Amino acid sequence: MAFLLAHLSDPHLAPLPKPHWSQLLNKRVTGYINWQHKRRFVHDAGVLTKIVADLKAQQPDHIACTGDLANIALPEEFTRGRAWLEGLGSPQNVSLVPGNHDAYVRGALANAKREWRAYMRGDDSGGFPYLRRRGPLALIGLSTAVPTAPGLASGGLGTKQLAALAKLLGDLKGSGLFRVVLIHHPPVSAAGWHKLLIDAAALKRVIAAQGAELLLHGHDHLAMLNWLDGPDGSRVPAVGVPSASAAPGTTKNAAGYNLYRIDGAAGAWRGDMIARGIDDSGMIAERKRKTLAG
Ligand SMILES: [Fe+2]
Repeated sequence: MAFLLAHLSDPHLAPLPKPHWSQLLNKRVTGYINWQHKRRFVHDAGVLTKIVADLKAQQPDHIACTGDLANIALPEEFTRGRAWLEGLGSPQNVSLVPGNHDAYVRGALANAKREWRAYMRGDDSGGFPYLRRRGPLALIGLSTAVPTAPGLASGGLGTKQLAALAKLLGDLKGSGLFRVVLIHHPPVSAAGWHKLLIDAAALKRVIAAQGAELLLHGHDHLAMLNWLDGPDGSRVPAVGVPSASAAPGTTKNAAGYNLYRIDGAAGAWRGDMIARGIDDSGMIAERKRKTLAG
């Protein structure tokens, strides 16, 4: 029987809790101004509720979320994030990786790790990359979340994490599992330099050497599909989703999520992607269906 994986990202939980002025004496001040002028009109709690309800109605076997639950990383955003995760599913059924907004200021990622730990750890250990085995899948979670200067939304994996990823992917190669890499920042993006994954080239080299069956990301808030080089002429789909809370008419891609129906076995995988999202009338409907493998 096919395994159904759902992927959503960048819920940017709204509304923003009211910050104390002393909490804005850092990068948060630019994020707060940005929220008040722009983002609060984009990220809509009602839209997110509809997306999550539709996703759950599909009864996925597992749900992947690629970060940015928070906006400016106020402490309350992490407790709210935990409540939202608990509404999405159990830690057994939901895998999370953090985004740059979850590490918006120094020390924020520690809050994320404390509140969301059960959702972003491996079967056997904590830390990144983590490994979770679910049905035919090996889910590998990465962290690109590092605090950056105001105006920057870049991310980085670092040499240690890249080396550990290469070893994991290599070890899993002969396991017969469908390897899914979860990462917030896309390895390929048309966004400006200030938003990019700084070691994207190194990540692509790891994928080219060790392979993976699927890479899922968020960050750009766009429906994206790029093909990465894998070993021996193979290709690895890197797929991004819009923000799960983006209200129709406020941004390029209104809220959506993807489903992956994964069937078959190593060497003969079949993977179908179904994109669903909110339309202008506020209904959730299928947007696209595409075969990625097989
Ligand atoms: Fe985001």
